[in-house]
Amino acid sequence: MNVLVTGGAGYIGSHTCVELLNEGYGVVVVDNLCNSNAESLNRVEELTGKKVKFYQGDVRDDALLRKIFAENEIGCVIHFAGLKAVGESVEKPWLYYDNNLNSTLVLTKVMEEVGMQNIIFSSSATVYTGDNEMPLRESSRTGNCTNPYGWTKYMTEQILGGMAHADQNWSVVLLRYFNPIGAHESGRIGEDPRGIPNNLMPYITQVAVGRREKLSVFGNDYDTHDGTGVRDYIHVVDLARGHVAAVRYVLAHKGCEVFNLGTGSGYSVLDMVKAFKQANGVDVPYQITDRRPGDLATCYADPKKSAEVLGWKATKDLTDMCRDSWRWQSQNPNGYNA
Ligand code: NAD
Ligand code: WQD
Repeated sequence: MNVLVTGGAGYIGSHTCVELLNEGYGVVVVDNLCNSNAESLNRVEELTGKKVKFYQGDVRDDALLRKIFAENEIGCVIHFAGLKAVGESVEKPWLYYDNNLNSTLVLTKVMEEVGMQNIIFSSSATVYTGDNEMPLRESSRTGNCTNPYGWTKYMTEQILGGMAHADQNWSVVLLRYFNPIGAHESGRIGEDPRGIPNNLMPYITQVAVGRREKLSVFGNDYDTHDGTGVRDYIHVVDLARGHVAAVRYVLAHKGCEVFNLGTGSGYSVLDMVKAFKQANGVDVPYQITDRRPGDLATCYADPKKSAEVLGWKATKDLTDMCRDSWRWQSQNPNGYNA
């Protein structure tokens, strides 16, 4: 069976392509490369010894989507394509609402036309409100997002959930990712952010490789064990395998289900700096700075539902995550533009 992977050249998409191909699925990718490099797909082919069928284009282009569905027998869509920089979404809200909402609307319109209505969507732990108790369960409160990016995830969940409610032919899985880090253990594919990284681990690896001087730790006065922010970091290969489990689920069930993809463990910023040094023997100079607006003290998942219903659990630990992030960065100091 073929899976259409939108945004498949990106960070999580490329790792998911590898796991899908290793499990025997055919993979068709559509990506406009606005935040990625087609070299990632060459490396997916190299790692798996299998072909990826790639269409370079925009998911909002309905003619392109019709062509893709006409040329390929697709059994399921994994919809990664989207813009994801929180700060940029505050600066350019229209860009985020247009890209992230219209891509989903156009995609699902064409899926309905062709009668293939199985979709897995990349949602985020950012949809949970900031006043929940930890750990976050799928039933925890959502909404009250603090930025347009978060609202696009919340709204897309509403759109897909409403469609599944209204039309029994839809099978929808919403996956709420916690903090994906790490890379394929070969070091051949990984996260390749453009410009200054927004997220912690790519910033750490760029400091370690000498591209940046030091890490700014955003606040050390949170109510956490060492005062720095606590998150649920999950290895991207575990996350990718969660998508393979979701493909099996979506093919066997109708309706809409939501799952957390996290480990259930929280680590602070300083825990991460220490773990990185322990795993790789590389120092990461840092300074404490002000809190970043909008950040929460603590965020981690209850992964029980995913274990019970999807039969999926994260297996890789923090050492694996730090080691694999570093292997990717040190072997590819300039990402795919080496
Ligand atoms: P990424 O930027 O590496 O991948 C997204 C891909 O989508 C890129 O290759 C980009 O070129 C492509 N794309 C964007 N808009 C497109 C469009 N209109 N048409 C075609 N292609 C388009 O990001 P990622 O980290 O792999 O994230 C994948 C998905 O997971 C995103 O939807 C993101 O919001 C979501 N997510 C990511 C994280 C995270 O921390 N990385 C956490 C939660 C959710
Ligand atoms: C982690 C911790 C920071 C950078 C974001 C999005 C979320 C989701 C995942 C998509 C926090 C601290 C960070 C730095 C630091 N993405 N930090 N110095 O904020 O948990 O989540 O990515 O859906 O929506 O908001 O991840 O990696 O940015 O931060 O001290 O240079 O590291 O304050 O405590 P976050 P992050």
